[in-house]
Amino acid sequence: MTKRVAILISGGGSNMVRLVDSMTGDYPARPCLVLANDPGAGGLEKAAARDVPTAVVDHRPFGADRAGFEAELTRVLAAHAPDIICLAGFMRVLTPDFVTRWQGRMLNIHPSLLPKYPGLHTHARALEAGDAEAGCSVHEVTAELDGGPILGQARVQVLPGDTADSLAARVLVQEHRLYPLVLRRFAAGDGGRIDL
Ligand code: GRF
Repeated sequence: MTKRVAILISGGGSNMVRLVDSMTGDYPARPCLVLANDPGAGGLEKAAARDVPTAVVDHRPFGADRAGFEAELTRVLAAHAPDIICLAGFMRVLTPDFVTRWQGRMLNIHPSLLPKYPGLHTHARALEAGDAEAGCSVHEVTAELDGGPILGQARVQVLPGDTADSLAARVLVQEHRLYPLVLRRFAAGDGGRIDL
């Protein structure tokens, strides 16, 4: 049965756009919601232009009250009844309580070859380490930040003269290839890993 997918974003939503644009024809999923934690997120317009329902749950009024933010997040999500949540450039850390509730049904894309470089500034850290390659990972979200089972990875060569920005740009192209492929398999119930 076609799965309903809610996509959570914080910014431009380029990964969200690729996911939405991939969910056509015999793809076993369809977008049911794009939700941003920032009312200024550029991805909201892109989702609306694709006739995908959108919502905003601004995290700022909640301050340090993560539980309060997540209760509102849960209320809005419930109204759209997603089967799967895709985090796509979503920059809020979710509590173990929220993650546990969605465990096994929530994916994230992270711009490193996990388990290397969980957290932020992944490209700068790969360059600093002198790595020969970098890339991105799609993983199931668990309570451990960027630590869940890896469902797919895509690799790029680090080139002489690469900066964090030039590397990020090449990795982003691979993110856009990888995420729709992994979601397709995941939505079809095929847990096999994809390596590009
Ligand atoms: C991407 O590098 C993604 O890996 C990270 O956030 C960045 C922006 O993503 N999570 P998007 O363009 O908003 O999808």
